Amino acid sequence: MSKKVGITETLFRDAHQSLLATRLKIKDMLEVAELIDAAGFHSLEVWGGATFDSCLRYLDEDPWERLRTLRKYLPNTRLQMLLRGQNLLGYRQYPDDVVDAFVNKSVENGIDIIRVFDALNDTRNLERAIKATKKAGGHSQAAVVYTVSPVHDVPGYVQLAKVLAEMGADSICIKDMAGILTPNIAYKLIRELKETIEIPIQLHSHYTSGLASMTYWSGIQAGADVVDTALSPLALGTSQPPTESLVAAMEGTDYDTGINIELLTQANMKLKHILAEYKKPPITVDTEVLVSQIPGGMLSNLKSQLEQQKLGHKFDEIVKEVPRVRKDLGYPPLVTPMSQIVGVQSLLNVVTGKRYSVKSKEIKDYVQGWYGRPPVEIAPEIRSQIIEGEPLTRRPADLLDPGLEKARLEIKDIMQQEEDLLSYILFPEVAKKFFANRK
Ligand code: CO
Repeated sequence: MSKKVGITETLFRDAHQSLLATRLKIKDMLEVAELIDAAGFHSLEVWGGATFDSCLRYLDEDPWERLRTLRKYLPNTRLQMLLRGQNLLGYRQYPDDVVDAFVNKSVENGIDIIRVFDALNDTRNLERAIKATKKAGGHSQAAVVYTVSPVHDVPGYVQLAKVLAEMGADSICIKDMAGILTPNIAYKLIRELKETIEIPIQLHSHYTSGLASMTYWSGIQAGADVVDTALSPLALGTSQPPTESLVAAMEGTDYDTGINIELLTQANMKLKHILAEYKKPPITVDTEVLVSQIPGGMLSNLKSQLEQQKLGHKFDEIVKEVPRVRKDLGYPPLVTPMSQIVGVQSLLNVVTGKRYSVKSKEIKDYVQGWYGRPPVEIAPEIRSQIIEGEPLTRRPADLLDPGLEKARLEIKDIMQQEEDLLSYILFPEVAKKFFANRK
């Protein structure tokens, strides 16, 4: 009786987003595409996240053309993308007509599985994308964003997953972007999920703190159906655990992955050669995050921001302020955009010496409810220091006007394909520049 564990290979999306600032070029991906396509993965994560922005902004590649090319060179494996719920692949909320069109075009151009998440775990920001994915004929995977705080616990995550399953999700992903999920909690969480919901459970973690391989092993024993790994030349550090090691560890057990490790080794050797052209950071283990709960990326951004403003000596004080601001704001997970909002406010609170006397536009929007609902309600005495009046109770996207036809009028003379509309809506300036160079 063996239960095959599926592997999602993240080489073409999360792995290079984590280690190479999302700069892996399509021509280099194609060098190993055939080997990876033949290896027997459950799916390949190849698109979405920051890749869309990076294609247009830095690589002079049409992201839609990239997707069509990958589909052509990876004909035998399911292709997967990461979508930020109502924020799609951008940094603000988009109206429902744009969400529907984006999802449709993603599936039409070759995506099979859309993993959707919301930074605040606000299910109202996920529902439209889940429904649109199913309507387009795709597999909708809804993610539970994992964080640690006094208001987050296993029963809460299980309840959230239940709601997402009822919304129509085909599978659930535990998304541990900071790499802080421990083997012990993973086991409890996945056991509870398997007892509560029927759909498959996938585990996504980052190696950042050194826990992820142990967490996967423990999660698999608790019943996880699929885990995310990266081929070893782009694994470890802030990326995923290495694929080859996991495949070898499972071989001959009840959890065999069925993946051909010979093909992986060939791809691995080619990849090492290709990566010599890229600047890969040294692989480190950051255990600080396990104590401070502040993701490494957020700390290093904060540090460089402070040094630019000659405020380096305030670093320790600001790091102490971060958990206080996070608590004030209802314990949001420290992931984009909340990591920036909390970081900037902590800096302002320390530098001015009077908390919330100076506030960013983003924190006001957040408290007003424009990003969705905080994990727990913000105390009235904090709220009144940041905004006047009451926050929104409606879903933010309900208050937005449709966006497609307005955009069509704006770029009708330069668009060459329907997909250009979506590139333009997400990144107006960058897309216009890209269209101009294309001619
Ligand atoms: Co990730």
